[in-house]
Amino acid sequence: MFYDKLYSENALNMRKSPIRELLRTADINKLISFAGGYPNPATFPIEDLKDIMRDVMDNEGTSVLQYAASEGNIKLRKILAERYTKEGLDITYENIIITTSSQQAIDLTTKVLINPGDIVLCGLPSYLGALQSFWSYQADIVGVRDFSDMEKVIKDVIAKGKKPKFIYTVPDFPESVGRDIIIKTA
Ligand SMILES: Cc1ncc(COP(=O)(O)O)c(C=O)c1O
Repeated sequence: MFYDKLYSENALNMRKSPIRELLRTADINKLISFAGGYPNPATFPIEDLKDIMRDVMDNEGTSVLQYAASEGNIKLRKILAERYTKEGLDITYENIIITTSSQQAIDLTTKVLINPGDIVLCGLPSYLGALQSFWSYQADIVGVRDFSDMEKVIKDVIAKGKKPKFIYTVPDFPESVGRDIIIKTA
């Protein structure tokens, strides 16, 4: 059976995952890889995670193992909303969804905002996993090496009759202070 004849355009547009390729080498004994953000397993808080898991199973086992709202556990969403309200954000738990890691958040944001051909401005160098999501939704990615060039790049894009959909930056940009930032521009 030749499945490749059945593949969707989306699947045909997918690129090989650079992260998967980087992590392949991380299995080689004694190699300390700085390429893929591979954490030192000695830092994994295994005992703390066991305690937390036991506590959750003892007290909420039946509800956490059951199907539930896609937005995530409501207690956790309320705790997070309270924390961010204390930090000055005007939000409620309804503004929060729980994702499986930041990669899913990047992917969902791209899915919701990007049509094929839409422009995404990316600080350079950029996080490979984010680029992978942008490619998979057929965004047109424009790299920006220096944040101070951003205004000029936006004007150039507009002069070509397009409008950047959002800007994505990573901690390599001093302005993005250690977190993924997606700035909506259109
Ligand atoms: C800048 C950046 N954003 C997001 C991620 C993905 O992190 P997560 O494990 O939360 O999906 C990584 C992982 O290396 C990263 O370096």
